[in-house]
Amino acid sequence: MLKKKIVIGNWKMNPPAKKEAESIFKSVLKNLNPKRKTEVVICPPFLYLESLKKLSKKVSLGAQDVFWEEKGAYTGEVSADMIYNIGARYVILGHSERRALGESNIDVNKKIKQSFSVGLIPVVCVGESVRDENHEYLNFVKTQVEECLFGVSKNFISKVIIAYEPVWAIGKNAVREATSEEFREMSIFIKKILSDKFGAKTIEQIRIIYGGSVHPENALGFLQEGADGFLAGRDSLDPKKFSEIIKICS
Ligand code: PGA
Repeated sequence: MLKKKIVIGNWKMNPPAKKEAESIFKSVLKNLNPKRKTEVVICPPFLYLESLKKLSKKVSLGAQDVFWEEKGAYTGEVSADMIYNIGARYVILGHSERRALGESNIDVNKKIKQSFSVGLIPVVCVGESVRDENHEYLNFVKTQVEECLFGVSKNFISKVIIAYEPVWAIGKNAVREATSEEFREMSIFIKKILSDKFGAKTIEQIRIIYGGSVHPENALGFLQEGADGFLAGRDSLDPKKFSEIIKICS
């Protein structure tokens, strides 16, 4: 079975008002080709999920985080059930900006399991902060993949989406984007880790996408090197650029 490509927009803590969020969302909708085969997911701040959900069913919605407990006395947290019940179907987990605030692989692992238990599909971010000459970064990513997915049931694992996002390639202070060859090398490496853990057959459908300074200009290169799609930050807030990336995927 051919894997469907997926383009995910991570709006982070933007935009400042619902009206703007709706306007960006509507522009993305307007540019969508109804015959496209690519799945499109937008991950706005929690607060906008409900109103965007009402605007259209053509674009899927996701959250940018979730708490690992089912419910209860956890001030400020949002549960997987709440996100699912509002109509979102994806959740970005382990983004480097959350890891920078203290999130560990163990936290991400608990969040993945909780998300799967209610039917949310986790988009698990992995990636090194630096590339060292001794290739220690490979071990770093291996540990992230193994610890984040530890104990995840075989029934769920094929649904997981892995976003390889080298930290040095993310955001406006990025050193540079990864090259498509760097992505290819890492995606083969991640597949090998997954295949050793879960078996080659089980992981066939897992999508490995690229994130970190994705733009219309570099998207094709990653696809040619086997990317199953993208996790875009800045360009997801620019409907023109985001639509262009979707088009290139299709
Ligand atoms: P960027 O962000 O596309 O702005 O580099 C990507 C991300 O953080 O997911």
